[in-house]
Amino acid sequence: MDKDYILAIDEGTTTARAIIFDHSGQRVAMARHPIRQILPNPGWVEHEPNEIWNAVQTTIATALIDSGIKPKQIKAIGIASQRETTVVWDKKTGLPIYNAIVWQSRQTSKLANDFIKAGYKDEIHQKTGLIISPYFSATKIRWILDHVDGSQERAEKGELLFGTINTWLLWKLTDGESFMTDCANASRTMLYNINTLEWDDDLLKLFNIPRVMLPEVKSNSEVFGITKNYQFYGSEIPISGMTGSQQASLFGQMAFEPGMVKNTYGTGAFAVMNTGNKPAMSDNNLLTTIAYGINGEIKYALEGSVFVAGAALQWLRDDMKLISSTPATSDAAKNSIDDNEVYVVPAFAGLGAPYWDNEAHGTIFGLTRGTTDKDVIKATLQAIAYQTKDIIGTMSSDSKIPIEVLKVDGAASANDYLMQFQADILGISLQRSSELETTSLGVAFMAGLGVGYWKDLDDIKQNYQAGKIYQPKMSETVRTNLYDGWKDAVEATMAFKH
Ligand code: G3P
Repeated sequence: MDKDYILAIDEGTTTARAIIFDHSGQRVAMARHPIRQILPNPGWVEHEPNEIWNAVQTTIATALIDSGIKPKQIKAIGIASQRETTVVWDKKTGLPIYNAIVWQSRQTSKLANDFIKAGYKDEIHQKTGLIISPYFSATKIRWILDHVDGSQERAEKGELLFGTINTWLLWKLTDGESFMTDCANASRTMLYNINTLEWDDDLLKLFNIPRVMLPEVKSNSEVFGITKNYQFYGSEIPISGMTGSQQASLFGQMAFEPGMVKNTYGTGAFAVMNTGNKPAMSDNNLLTTIAYGINGEIKYALEGSVFVAGAALQWLRDDMKLISSTPATSDAAKNSIDDNEVYVVPAFAGLGAPYWDNEAHGTIFGLTRGTTDKDVIKATLQAIAYQTKDIIGTMSSDSKIPIEVLKVDGAASANDYLMQFQADILGISLQRSSELETTSLGVAFMAGLGVGYWKDLDDIKQNYQAGKIYQPKMSETVRTNLYDGWKDAVEATMAFKH
């Protein structure tokens, strides 16, 4: 009998991936396809939803062809995606009425600020666990309905649908049959009440978003739909796992116990801590969000989002032309001989947690006549680690749980300099996942659980493989001095508003 496998789709901000895993959680095939970034105005980021769909189809086909695995050997499909990114499309024609507005996009900053000024901060935080920000879907939907002629009326008549990318891809794979999302992705829209586990009527009213355009919310691991055979190479395969990219990597890191924390170094960096069965509300501007819902049980999380992490390394490569590849930043940083006096604050999309400054722009401090390209590269890597420290410190005090180990993954976690500096500046050890594609692995586990490919969490845990450990080596005095410099740099960045 042919072996069977799980296919994970990881549709991220800059790349779509399709990865096939076997029963021991080993990766047997992987394909990637870049996603075009549309930047119509400063601070705006958009994607073309049909390009995303085409990219996903291409990666699935490539992974299947390269591995020789037949579509019918895929036991189940999981979809993990960039969260918050908003698509509104016509229910009949399937055509988007506007580009997807990406989570990083700042085009709704004013709208978000208006809601803050109008005094909705506490109500929204209490209901959704979120900070009012253009980051989340609610203001993005509002923007589309305000800017596309006639769309509010059409949405009210039930002619338009809203989805984040997971919903869009499910709808495409099932050719319009399944219009659903999962509780983790729903918790990032700013319209979903994480206490009642329902779309919140008061918030829908506040943002004037018709309920009829919202998808049905399911758990993270159950059958969401079956692929139409003409959308999946002649096979009808259940889609039985779905979540947001960061919740997927938490799951892929097997952070099933309260207090376990992971940080994924992708386009941005996202630290997420499992806080157990009750929402832990942050006093320091971290987000409270749904970690996962499985078998009727909801686990909550605290999250801190750094908007620019790997994207800063791409900036060094593509815009500043200081380096030929992003992995090469590790050796360049190791060859810098300055005294760590340069600070780069890569606030290219404002600053996320715990600062939430939508207007901040990037800055560089501490330049001298002797500053070299290597020093700036090193400072950019260090900035990723400092931003992570900002969050991990806050997470520990908000949850009142000391953090002893940080589980790390994502492309930039392969960067040796960054990982050692991260362990040094945090003063705790880092454990890198042996599978860096933990987002795909996590949603593959969810999909497999949904069809009985794996029995339960204990069965999944059998597949755990520890990766490299980084131990802190820096003295407390140096750590404190360096971090004080970072805090000064952030303060000055936030004060600079020109
Ligand atoms: O919240 C945004 C986040 O989900 C981005 O994900 O997959 O592009 O790193 P990704």
